Amino acid sequence: MTPSSVPTPHQEGSGAAPSMFTRERIGEGGAARVATLVALLDAQEQQPAVRRLRDWAFEALAPQPGESVVDVGAGTGTELRRLAEAVAPDGRAVGIEPNPGLREEGSRRAALTGSAATLMDGDAADLPFADGAVHVLRCERVFQHLPDPQAAAHEFARVLAPDGRVAVLDSDWGTVISHPGDPDLVRRYAEANWRRMANPFAARHLPSQLRVAGLVVDDDIGSAALVMPPRALLGSGLIHRNADAAVEEGALSRAEADQFLADAMAAASAGTAFFSVTMFGVVARKVG
Ligand SMILES: C[S@@+](CC[C@H](N)C(=O)[O-])C[C@H]1O[C@@H](n2cnc3c(N)ncnc32)[C@H](O)[C@@H]1O
Repeated sequence: MTPSSVPTPHQEGSGAAPSMFTRERIGEGGAARVATLVALLDAQEQQPAVRRLRDWAFEALAPQPGESVVDVGAGTGTELRRLAEAVAPDGRAVGIEPNPGLREEGSRRAALTGSAATLMDGDAADLPFADGAVHVLRCERVFQHLPDPQAAAHEFARVLAPDGRVAVLDSDWGTVISHPGDPDLVRRYAEANWRRMANPFAARHLPSQLRVAGLVVDDDIGSAALVMPPRALLGSGLIHRNADAAVEEGALSRAEADQFLADAMAAASAGTAFFSVTMFGVVARKVG
């Protein structure tokens, strides 16, 4: 992909240095890496935008007592525990989590809170459930890490029961606003980030992927913009790490990256910086 081209779905992301959440990087960095991922997920779910979109999806899914519910890529299991409570006392709530460290943390938190939720190993494209066994399925911020998201959509349709509901929530990194900065530098910085992701524009493809899998997609698409408070930019090393990676990959020169960072940090100090990425939620149903 050339820096200025508009990527097609198959060109999106080259996977050059994939995100820490991808399957292929599980096991790297040991316990310290797991602690980093847990801290990141805990911080993200404190964001009002994440909570709003989660609440919207939960209402649309309307889990009922006795139903079988699944959270794919459940992470530390916060939403899984919420689902477990909604389907109690006779329902079943299972989280699929391929990362053993996150799975262990999710299981520990479930035990600690007396939740009936359980976590299992698995893959979004290969779920350990029989055809039609699941009433409600959710999957949040996982599709951006999948090299073959359509395979996951087909798998969700396979395991859903007639009248089953699915909610897939994900970011679309094409919606990033990064202000201030020279537009050309900002664009090249963003494009370098896209190339490191398996599926950076995950959200925009969700309705069609779920339709292709044979599901009926609700017209109401949920959305919430994650806007980082300027002061949080000062404490976060993320922009620096991404700028360093862009230099290593040849997308920015060192001088350009330093200029980009200096502009961003000056604006963050002055309270005038604006950094956001939008998350979307798509709900679909299996017509019985
Ligand atoms: C950004 S985290 C989101 C976790 C959780 N859904 C949340 O919203 O807090 C991405 C999650 O996807 C999981 N994941 C990555 N590849 C996966 C795959 N192929 N199938 C299922 N889960 C996967 C990761 O282990 C991680 O838990």
